[in-house]
Amino acid sequence: MCGIIGAVAETAIKPVLDGLGRLEYRGYDSSGISLLSNNEIQTIKAQGKLTNLKQRLSEQVLDGECCIGHTRWATHGRASVTNAHPHQCGQVSVVHNGIIENYLQLKHQLAQWGHHFSSATDSEVIPHLINHYLSQHLSEEEAIAKTVAQLKGSYAIGVLINSTSKNLYAIKQGSPLVISQGNEGAYMASDAMALGSDSGKIYYPNDNELIKLNTHDITLCNDSSNKRIHYIKNKQSSDAISKGQHSSYMEKEIFEQVDLMKRLSVSNDTDEYSSINFNQINKITIIACGTSYYAASIAKSWFEKYANILVEIDIASEYRYRSPIVSEKELTIFVSQSGETADTLAALRYAKSKKAQTLALVNVINSSIAREADFSFEIYAGPEIGVASTKAFSCQLAIFYKMTLEAAKQREFIDANEISVLAKNFMQLPYLMEKVLQRCLEMKDMAKKLTKFSNVLFLGRGELTAIAQEGALKLKEISYIHAEAYAAGELKHGPIALLDEQMPVLVIAPKNGLTDKLLSNIQEVQARNAPIFIIGDRSNKQYINLQEDEFFELPEMPESIQALISVIPMQLLALYSAQQLGKNVDQPRNLAKSVTVE
Ligand code: F6R
Repeated sequence: MCGIIGAVAETAIKPVLDGLGRLEYRGYDSSGISLLSNNEIQTIKAQGKLTNLKQRLSEQVLDGECCIGHTRWATHGRASVTNAHPHQCGQVSVVHNGIIENYLQLKHQLAQWGHHFSSATDSEVIPHLINHYLSQHLSEEEAIAKTVAQLKGSYAIGVLINSTSKNLYAIKQGSPLVISQGNEGAYMASDAMALGSDSGKIYYPNDNELIKLNTHDITLCNDSSNKRIHYIKNKQSSDAISKGQHSSYMEKEIFEQVDLMKRLSVSNDTDEYSSINFNQINKITIIACGTSYYAASIAKSWFEKYANILVEIDIASEYRYRSPIVSEKELTIFVSQSGETADTLAALRYAKSKKAQTLALVNVINSSIAREADFSFEIYAGPEIGVASTKAFSCQLAIFYKMTLEAAKQREFIDANEISVLAKNFMQLPYLMEKVLQRCLEMKDMAKKLTKFSNVLFLGRGELTAIAQEGALKLKEISYIHAEAYAAGELKHGPIALLDEQMPVLVIAPKNGLTDKLLSNIQEVQARNAPIFIIGDRSNKQYINLQEDEFFELPEMPESIQALISVIPMQLLALYSAQQLGKNVDQPRNLAKSVTVE
């Protein structure tokens, strides 16, 4: 969740500040740096966005070779300067991402040794423990090793110690960490994307490997076998992170989907999916969180409908706690844009411990989930910076669609003609998405009308229920309008009680086998005087008297790709509603892009 970065370079503060800018999507409650300068650690912190820290830093001239930085997403202790990282104790300063579960116990122990704490965070115990062991004349490496041996939970930490040797240390347990040796310096960060252009080669440390960075070298400290660091090429380019002409990353990412679908529809990656023998699998379980979970829900419908494979889906944070029955003939698929979501990673480890085959579907191919799964597929969405996931969702769906075609082919559940029709439908995606995006201004008008309300009910049927859920999630997370979603047929089983003039209902209603049923549901809503908004087929408008800004016409399209097209107006509606209400679209309150805590 939080972002950490460190550099040992001639002017170390520069790559740290640049990196914090690229890490801000991980948390923006507060930020801070510690710089080793003239044999003194200077720590400067600020509450709120990174610009506040930059403002504070611009008031002074700072220079030094060793620097660590942090951008925070609060877990323990509210957002404040005191709770912001780095946390310092004597000559030790620490940045931390993760959660130290036994921090109260450690705090108690340290208090008995005479330590005083200034923050409400779990992280502050780390510099205190290191400082304690240094005062007992342990070496820097021994003091850090002894400290982390006492920590329970997940962490990636950067440690700056004011000593003559000017070293920066990094170590992790369960949280992401990357190390890079550049031409101008040595770097550590919680994300390869945070590293600048001087980071062509990177290393992903294993849990508990203590890495020492200084101006001469990067070394693995605690490896008795003298294991060498094996660098790999850094595929994450920080250049790809630009908004271009767009007002926000989210807007850019929504409009990028046409090109991404073009690329995915011509790419020859189906061979990759043939590495799975779908005939030897008795069940697929797909596990994910949030938007990725809704992609899983649609994939379930496709796999069952077109390939006759039993699919179960589960929310990652629930999966391992409900004692699921896992068989060796089961394929477990873990869907994650970031590849770092702590709940999904923990679920993957659980499935592995039960000997299930594990497959990761990720956007970040060197991520923890991708590295730990038996095999992994990339969704090729490119860096997604907007906190609300958009293009990653459609790319996840596109890859699931291709996997379904491969499964259908292998299992011969539908004939070759049907498979080829499904494949042709997929080729229409870029054209149809473009058609919808060209009329984006109509969604702006709908957003204007919808933002007058404080609640919205989203309805869909079949696999479009998941699109209704995704639409509701997008709207609430960036506009803060309360939104819930239901399968339209469920309305009469409870939510209909909510309907009145103040409870608008948005229905996703493209033309398909369920249109007539949906029309009856729409009538039920109208009979209760609830304002109706429809994203659907022209025929809906014929039956219901809607104004221009209450109806968005979806193009005629084959049923198999309706989820992928219908989600575009949902994304636009959320974007324009948030803009209309003056919200920060890319950095909604309380959220962070990569949820690396349980
Ligand atoms: C919503 C959103 C989140 C993520 C969820 C899982 O817009 O972005 O709900 O989908 O936190 O994240 P990943 O896919 O990175 O595991």
